[in-house]
Amino acid sequence: MTHAERHWASVLNEAWGIDAELQSLPGEFELNFLATARDGSGCVLKVMREGCDAEFVSLLCAAHAHVRSRDATVPVPAVVPTTAGESWCVRRGADGADRILWLLTRCDGVDYARFRPHAAPLVARIGETVARLDGALRDFAHRGLAREIKWNLLHGEWIAGHLHAVEGADRRAMVERVLRRYAEIKPALLGEPLAVIHNDLNENNLLVTRDGEDEPSVSGIVDFGDMIAGPAVAEIAIAGAYLALGQRHPERTLATFVAAYHRVTPLRTEQIDLVWPLLLMRLAVSVVNAAIMRRERPDDPYVVISEAPAWTLLERAQGIDERLMGARLRAECGLPVTDAAERIAAWLSSARGSLAPVMGVELGDAPVGALSVTESTVPRDPFVFGDDEARTLGAEYAGHAVWLGRYGEPRPFYTDGAFRAGPHATSDRRTVHIGVDIFMAAGSAVHAPLDGVVEVVEYRDGRLDYGGMAVLRHETPAGDRFATLFGHLSRASVRALGVGQRIARGDAFAELGTADENGGWSPHLHFQLALETAGLGKDWPGVADPDDLELWRAICPNPAPLLNLTEAQVAYRPLDVESLERARHEQFATNLRLSYRDHCLFVRGWKHYLFDEWGRAYLDAYNNVPHVGHAHPRLHAVACDQLRRLNSNTRYLHPAQVEFASTLLAKMPPQLTHVFFVNSGSEGNELALRLARTHTGGKDMVTPDHGYHGNTTGAYDVSAYKFNKPGGGGRPEWVQLVPVADTYRGAHRGADAAERYAAHVDEALARIVARDGRLAGFIAETLPSVGGQIIPPRGYLRGVYERIRAAGGVCIADEVQTGLGRLGEFYWGFAQQDARPDIVVLGKPLGNGHPLGAVVTTAAIARSFDNGIEFFSTFGGSTLSCRMGTEVLRIVDEEGLQENARVQGDRLLAGLRALQERHAVIGDVRGLGLFIGVDLVSDRESRAPATRAASHVVNRMREARILIGTEGPADNVLKIRPPLTIGADDVDQFVATLDEVLEELAYR
Ligand SMILES: Cc1ncc(COP(=O)(O)O)c(C=O)c1O
Repeated sequence: MTHAERHWASVLNEAWGIDAELQSLPGEFELNFLATARDGSGCVLKVMREGCDAEFVSLLCAAHAHVRSRDATVPVPAVVPTTAGESWCVRRGADGADRILWLLTRCDGVDYARFRPHAAPLVARIGETVARLDGALRDFAHRGLAREIKWNLLHGEWIAGHLHAVEGADRRAMVERVLRRYAEIKPALLGEPLAVIHNDLNENNLLVTRDGEDEPSVSGIVDFGDMIAGPAVAEIAIAGAYLALGQRHPERTLATFVAAYHRVTPLRTEQIDLVWPLLLMRLAVSVVNAAIMRRERPDDPYVVISEAPAWTLLERAQGIDERLMGARLRAECGLPVTDAAERIAAWLSSARGSLAPVMGVELGDAPVGALSVTESTVPRDPFVFGDDEARTLGAEYAGHAVWLGRYGEPRPFYTDGAFRAGPHATSDRRTVHIGVDIFMAAGSAVHAPLDGVVEVVEYRDGRLDYGGMAVLRHETPAGDRFATLFGHLSRASVRALGVGQRIARGDAFAELGTADENGGWSPHLHFQLALETAGLGKDWPGVADPDDLELWRAICPNPAPLLNLTEAQVAYRPLDVESLERARHEQFATNLRLSYRDHCLFVRGWKHYLFDEWGRAYLDAYNNVPHVGHAHPRLHAVACDQLRRLNSNTRYLHPAQVEFASTLLAKMPPQLTHVFFVNSGSEGNELALRLARTHTGGKDMVTPDHGYHGNTTGAYDVSAYKFNKPGGGGRPEWVQLVPVADTYRGAHRGADAAERYAAHVDEALARIVARDGRLAGFIAETLPSVGGQIIPPRGYLRGVYERIRAAGGVCIADEVQTGLGRLGEFYWGFAQQDARPDIVVLGKPLGNGHPLGAVVTTAAIARSFDNGIEFFSTFGGSTLSCRMGTEVLRIVDEEGLQENARVQGDRLLAGLRALQERHAVIGDVRGLGLFIGVDLVSDRESRAPATRAASHVVNRMREARILIGTEGPADNVLKIRPPLTIGADDVDQFVATLDEVLEELAYR
């Protein structure tokens, strides 16, 4: 303890009877100490600055007590009375000055500033907690509230006199704009009822704790020093400002917060509309105050603590339309986006059926196309909507004179950069159609459904843009205004229109453009309704980001009434994820697991990307089965071709069988000459066990600990990863385990580790002799995967195989995970180990998702196996499987995927090793090519596995749309095994994202 800490510790003992160690905490004016008593309990001792008004301290004490008495669920610390029963006392400091002291119970958790991630569920919990706090404070009264402070947003205009302190004309202009808007909203603000508010819910005054593994909640609200009598909306604006700082999507964060507040304490739309301009005002006060303080106290970091992020948000706010923001907040709260929205919707509903047909024909019987990412396979490449594909979109409906495209439909074909909001393939993308499409011949006349005035008319020549577009402004009989958007018009027809031109109901005011003039699309009208046009600017988005759908559905509702249709006729019905989950639960055993806290539903794939049901793209860095990439066109072509012809079995001759076998054997070492076709890795290992037994006459197997070879009975019996788990059934007596050759965690780590690990086989062989068993062989994943992405020391398997052979056994290499070039430098794992297996088992990547496995062995073993019993696998070696397998092997070679695995694997490993330098949680980075493990530890010295951290990382990566898994006996190894198509950009994005996620661990 410092001198001061010792002094105040003795005061604490004397006045409160608490014997505690003190530790200084940061504070702007007062001294704060964390007091830890002998029994481990903690308090916070507050030593107020010299000259502090007793009235102020009594206000704070009263507020704490009041909140606690009103709502015990609001986590406000309790004031601990002195032994004399007082809330506070006055004692002399070591410097001789009198100070007011008071003591608070300590809250769990850390301040929000030091907590990560700042994810939506936590923001929502804060919203609810702040609403409850305000509810508890509402009837608080105290003389001390009547004081003037610079943070009172009712009187923020004082900053106008200090703008000169702000450096930079741009920044000053920005603050001036905020001030001007503030002056405009001031009357409304002054009209808001006064309540009592905390008034400073910044990131240091909210404490957060994690209840269980993943559910953070607010554990403390502290520092009521800026409390005032003010409007609730100021509380929301201030807390909202701090929550939005530094967020990737500040608008969404604010909306989440406000909606959560609203769920507890319903807000009026007028209040909601004040939030954004007031939030900006708070930022303006902060930055001006910081500028002033920087002049007064240039060396004090405390005063300027949130200045940089406040400027960033202010700058970003320049591009955010206040009305659009207000609409977003209202929509998120489930309130009408504009005051007229409900009236307009009601009128449109009543007018349905009486409006002029937009395309001159009734649409009630028109077929409705299915263009969603779930249903449609256009475009083939979800990143490139080909010219021909766009021009022939919906060709399957071409027999109809008119057909419709749905509202609210997530579509995979908005591939132009204009639809994407970031640099990565997985960046946010606008996919959801917020209008209705009417597909008809180019040149078809477009009519106004009701009287209107041309508000916007443009020709946009961008690819996949609107081409000719017009916006008509309409008015309901009650005088409420709304707009309709007509896209993909002909160039000539928009040229003929002028802004301000009146269009009468039923007038044919435009015509559909051809593909050459409508953005390149199959001719159709994009028809959209907008209840609010403010803030749409020049963009007039026709599709929305699925994560902003609440807002866009509210602003641009289903225009069906204007087409004399019911909403249901043209509404896309999203996949019902909840009922899918429920059905899964009812129909399948619960040990059929789903990955990730927030389950994934994928409907499309392409190369190393997957797409969910809303068209969001994910980087697949996990799935090793789609070895040559998801949805490979060559495999599609082969499958279609073969299924058109024949899909039979190995009882008949067919060139595809021999072609596949030859192509596979050409990749194998010369001693392996015979092939068996099966359906899976499990079936392959099962067969391999039979081969070994028939050949040797023995039954006993030696295998490394933590191995996995499949889910069938025999394969399971040699899978310690399964049988050694609780409930796993234990090791069969004919199986002998040897330690997995792990040089990071295992017993042998030095230069002789390969030999030492191999020598354990001698012990296993001795145990077989001791039990009167007879050796059949040895089975191992050449590079153990489920054991934690282990790279055994070079030569380990060779040493093992020598011992096994000398004892009369055969050696089985399970290459299900490692084969076919994944390792980059090596086509097979056994090559990396310099080992010559007798039997090789293949699965997963061999069919790229088509169920296909193979067992390759020597002529001698194949001969032994032919003991008179026919070998037959109905689907193994089917004509289709053989053609698929051959094609996969060819693609790996022809697309240079083994080399890509080497290059990208090296890049990824280098990136991960750089992260290891900065993140202590990374104990080990190991890998070969695109077979990579990142071993997370809670302590580098002891190498204690960081299992919870690994689970956090995997789930956060998933939230950032990157898929990886965990592996290893303690589930602490990040498992990274992308399709071999992954590129340099993806690798860089992967490393950068993992960096951010690992950074979060430091805050836990
Ligand atoms: C090394 C290894 N062998 C065998 C199998 C079993 O293959 P399958 O699931 O195709 O039966 C797996 C599956 O994960 C595996 O990783």
